[in-house]
Amino acid sequence: MATFTLNINGKKQEVDVDPSTPILWVLRDHLNMVGTKFGCGIAQCGACTIHLDGTATRSCTLPVSSIGDKKITTIEGLSENGDHPVQKAWLEVDVPQCGYCQAGQIMTASALLEKNPNPTDEEIETAMNGNICRCGTYVRIRKAVKIASESK
Ligand code: FES
Ligand code: FES
Repeated sequence: MATFTLNINGKKQEVDVDPSTPILWVLRDHLNMVGTKFGCGIAQCGACTIHLDGTATRSCTLPVSSIGDKKITTIEGLSENGDHPVQKAWLEVDVPQCGYCQAGQIMTASALLEKNPNPTDEEIETAMNGNICRCGTYVRIRKAVKIASESK
């Protein structure tokens, strides 16, 4: 066990965990922040996507010991009132079906637009490609990312 001080959604959080614990489980099991989902556990589905210093990152394979003072943003901290342009576009298009993959989709889309506010369709496709949706909401996801990019 070791103590880590993490910067999560602008707040310092101290946790006492095994250094190899993936940050996904620190968030979910130790801090009760369950917006970030577990899908595959092997960095293949994107359900667990968070931002690490603004970059979309898979939290299921990222040991807490590798984070240091990097800023973590989770779906809970993306906006104060659920009014990030990506979240608003998601509502406008009514993207989710079961919803399970959607936090990861939104975190990937918001990181994309932060770096590239006006992505082409191809750039959206490339950025979102690794986020799997078993309900097949891909068409609505692409549409919502486009709307969010136009509203920014
Ligand atoms: S749970 Fe992390 S990529 Fe699937
Ligand atoms: S909305 Fe069900 S997995 Fe994507």
